[in-house]
Amino acid sequence: MTAGGIDKAGMPSHVAIILDGNGRWAERRGLPRAMGHKKGCETLEQIVEDCARIGLDYLTVYGFSTENWKRSKEEVGALMGLFRLYMRKLVKVANENNVRCRMIGERSRFDLDIQEGIEFLEGQTAGNTGMTFVFAVNYGSRDEIVRAVRAYARDIVRGQKGEEDIEALTEDAFAGYLDTAGMPDPDLVIRTSGEFRLSNYLLWQCAYAEYYITPVLWPDFTKDELMKAIESYRSRDRRFGGRNEADDTLKSG
Ligand code: IPE
Ligand code: IPE
Ligand code: MG
Repeated sequence: MTAGGIDKAGMPSHVAIILDGNGRWAERRGLPRAMGHKKGCETLEQIVEDCARIGLDYLTVYGFSTENWKRSKEEVGALMGLFRLYMRKLVKVANENNVRCRMIGERSRFDLDIQEGIEFLEGQTAGNTGMTFVFAVNYGSRDEIVRAVRAYARDIVRGQKGEEDIEALTEDAFAGYLDTAGMPDPDLVIRTSGEFRLSNYLLWQCAYAEYYITPVLWPDFTKDELMKAIESYRSRDRRFGGRNEADDTLKSG
């Protein structure tokens, strides 16, 4: 089966990206960091379209972490300005590509107009049936897990669940309290700019993800780079803690 001329065999269903290196991209050109973020938004627009065309089911992108508030007032301000602009542009890009958009993260910390922009984007694209684009903003995995525990405790206290449910809680049921409820776990995590860390991204969900790190800075990331990551993913042997086929061949041969 092919999608956009691509053989679908062994394709990841869900790709998660840690877009990184916007600041360095700008600094290397003697530009303000905000210019790197602006170029990064343009890259993201293109990659959302590329991912939809190659037939991914889910693309989840880390746009702003719970720790990114520590940056200078100027940089945070520039990022908020870009969110405002980019969310409006994204409605068009998403609808042209049959993409449904969903935001994860704690949105109440954003200014009201940004929160409304998020709701507008989700509402305007809710009927699309192609790829789901998930944008992680004011997202932190530890924060997400703590919020999930609070929500579960609230259900117990309010009587929607009883004390017996404490022991009956399963991994799947717990995952239903996370921001990513209903989504499959990422198959492949791509991080740009050569950093080998998760930076508080999808810690629960990436338990068995495959990782691909590229030195390319996010503003320079292209569809070719994306396809290199996917090719690398296709050559991996995912075992999920079980035996691999090579073990069987060794024994029988
Ligand atoms: C990623 O680029 C965007 C955000 C974290 C908001 P950075 O701003 O982290 O770029 P570097 O890592 O400083 O180059
Ligand atoms: C992670 O990148 C957050 C996002 C990509 C939004 P950072 O640049 O903030 O991560 P660290 O500080 O290098 O770990
Ligand atoms: Mg960074």
